[in-house]
Amino acid sequence: DWTMHAYRERAVEKIRAQVGKGRVLCALSGGVDSSVAAVLIHEAIGDQLTCVFVDHGLMRMNEADEVVAMFRDQYNIPLVHVDASKKFLGELEGQTDPETKRKIIGRLFIEVFEEEAKKIGGAEFLAQGTLYPDVIESVSFSGGPSVTIKSHHNVGGLPERMNMQLVEPLRELFKDEVRALGRELGLPDRFIGRHPFPGPGLAIRCPGGITPEKLDILRKADAIYLDEIRKSGQYDKIWQAFAVLLPVQTVGVMGDGRTYEFVCALRAVTSVDGMTADFYQFDMNFLGKTATRIINEVRGINRVVYDVTSKPPGTIEWE
Ligand code: XMP
Repeated sequence: DWTMHAYRERAVEKIRAQVGKGRVLCALSGGVDSSVAAVLIHEAIGDQLTCVFVDHGLMRMNEADEVVAMFRDQYNIPLVHVDASKKFLGELEGQTDPETKRKIIGRLFIEVFEEEAKKIGGAEFLAQGTLYPDVIESVSFSGGPSVTIKSHHNVGGLPERMNMQLVEPLRELFKDEVRALGRELGLPDRFIGRHPFPGPGLAIRCPGGITPEKLDILRKADAIYLDEIRKSGQYDKIWQAFAVLLPVQTVGVMGDGRTYEFVCALRAVTSVDGMTADFYQFDMNFLGKTATRIINEVRGINRVVYDVTSKPPGTIEWE
């Protein structure tokens, strides 16, 4: 892709001109945007970049290990992996309100990131994978009445607090262009095509209170669901697909016994930009087979339902 090849070269020059001999920190989330930004910046300034991956304990199955392996081992990008799951899960204990959960996660994220930045000896620059739609959204929202439906957790407020300048090499790009740039940079297809994953992670896919046991159940169900979606060749047709563990127990039968376990909701949507979305039309055999696998393989779930709500009126996430 010639356009992206040219973009890459210009972006590398711009980053070098902005950063000089300075040091850059990048908060890596494991998502496509921050990853593409990190690889691009690494190409421009090498080891002047350090990535910090704050592991909040709300990632999906094996996700944290995969991120660390890819950046540290495959790309040789200096990466600090902070396992802060005890801190996050501790403060989230007993919290059931979606916005409160987001605020706690956002605050802790900044605290942990700041602490790590100090340990490394600080940096003049903070890298972010901000995209063009993020830029427009924050401009059109500022000053006007608050129309944000959910307070999205990112590193907002961090640069001012830490007196850092922003490096945002993706500011002119849309999501599909970021993916093209990622491909141009040689990131694996499987990684580039990943569905978006929210900053607060599984915390907002576990409505109500969060416990390590619930997260464990949710992780297993989600992994089975995504495995079935990949195996059936539908992953790339879907914008986002995930399991939600409902705070509801229902009665079931297993062998001669009665069970009383959680309900798991499955969600899948198609979308262009996440602002509106349609529920994805699986065939019933696929849903039946997936439900059977989840109930047979995951202790703690005895019922599976499928969400047929589009956005609007629903949001993509359940919280
Ligand atoms: P909703 O649920 O608002 O989601 O329809 C639209 C898109 O945003 C993602 N999302 C978030 N991303 N922090 C994030 O970084 C958040 O708090 C958050 N809430 C929703 C969601 O996964 C979807 O892609």
